[in-house]
Amino acid sequence: MLRRLHHEQPESFAFTEANLEWAKTQIAKYPEGRQASAVIPLLWRAQEQEGWISRPIIETVASMLGMANIRVLEVASFYFMFQMAPVGRYNVQVCGTTTCMICGAEDLIAVCKEKIGPKAHTPYREGMFSWEEVECLGACANAPMVQIGKDFYEDLTAEKFAWILDELAEGRVPTPGPQGGRYASEPKTGLTALIIPEGEPRNSRNASVQLATALGDGQTRIQGTEAVATAAVINSDMGAPAPEKAPEAPQPEAAPPQPEAETEYDHEARPEGSEALEAIQPDVLAEAIEGKPDDLKKITGIGPAIEGNLNLAGVFHYSQIAGWSDAELAWIEANVTGAAGRASRDDWRGQAKTLAEDAGEN
Ligand code: FES
Repeated sequence: MLRRLHHEQPESFAFTEANLEWAKTQIAKYPEGRQASAVIPLLWRAQEQEGWISRPIIETVASMLGMANIRVLEVASFYFMFQMAPVGRYNVQVCGTTTCMICGAEDLIAVCKEKIGPKAHTPYREGMFSWEEVECLGACANAPMVQIGKDFYEDLTAEKFAWILDELAEGRVPTPGPQGGRYASEPKTGLTALIIPEGEPRNSRNASVQLATALGDGQTRIQGTEAVATAAVINSDMGAPAPEKAPEAPQPEAAPPQPEAETEYDHEARPEGSEALEAIQPDVLAEAIEGKPDDLKKITGIGPAIEGNLNLAGVFHYSQIAGWSDAELAWIEANVTGAAGRASRDDWRGQAKTLAEDAGEN
């Protein structure tokens, strides 16, 4: 594939407010005169925001770092992790290197051709999907595998992979990680060493999957609210008591502050016309009424990860969502990982109202 500037380019590019702040902290890490060292993180953040690297992105990053445009283009076009042309919202990267190829990567590519489209590097299905074959992604023990967004799906079969694509098309995000019943990359016949003694606590998912599920941002673009609730999700899975209400900031005792973690709200993601709105935390519950939470995944735009984050924030029932005011919706979008932009765009309140009525909730 030729790696050059795409023939169609946007007029301009600007980092969101939150991403600009983040970019400045990256640049400040390097001594005077060495700001060019921040070129990869800045390009990566720009790609996470926009989906691909355009000429205006290259020019913006070059100007922020005092580099010639061509130097930034050289970096962007050298590394295959940078997309030089628009990709689908879900860009499926199929590992086609030796282990995965032996274990069935060609079957996965056949699924891509059937369910997405015949050509790699091409958005299909109204821009929802694209696919490409990539080199080893470092999960060879769980071959064959694909990366979608930031998530790995491992131990795949053609059937399982087709199901994952169908789920994504329906707005649901399947739990990433091994798909064949393995916990991590242990032998298929079970562990023979480092066995956790009976009764010892352990996450229900391996650490990578746990974090990916907690963040819930594998399929979303960076908006600046990604780290909220992560520590609480991990702790609650380890058996710690669930928080009584939504965490308002990353919790330093459980997880040291992450330099890249931001809690600023992306104003562009707010409901239309709500710029002056002051976000207000809605009433939340310590636990589901009678221990029976509603299946929030019935709401389009809510998958298992976002449902978990809503539960952590104290939201369990359709009637709660249906009753949010605009200010409360803004709070949810700003504080519940994965909700930013989706809650208003997919009209969670309207959907929840219908579901609540069907379920006979007040
Ligand atoms: S060969 Fe596919 S992850 Fe390494």
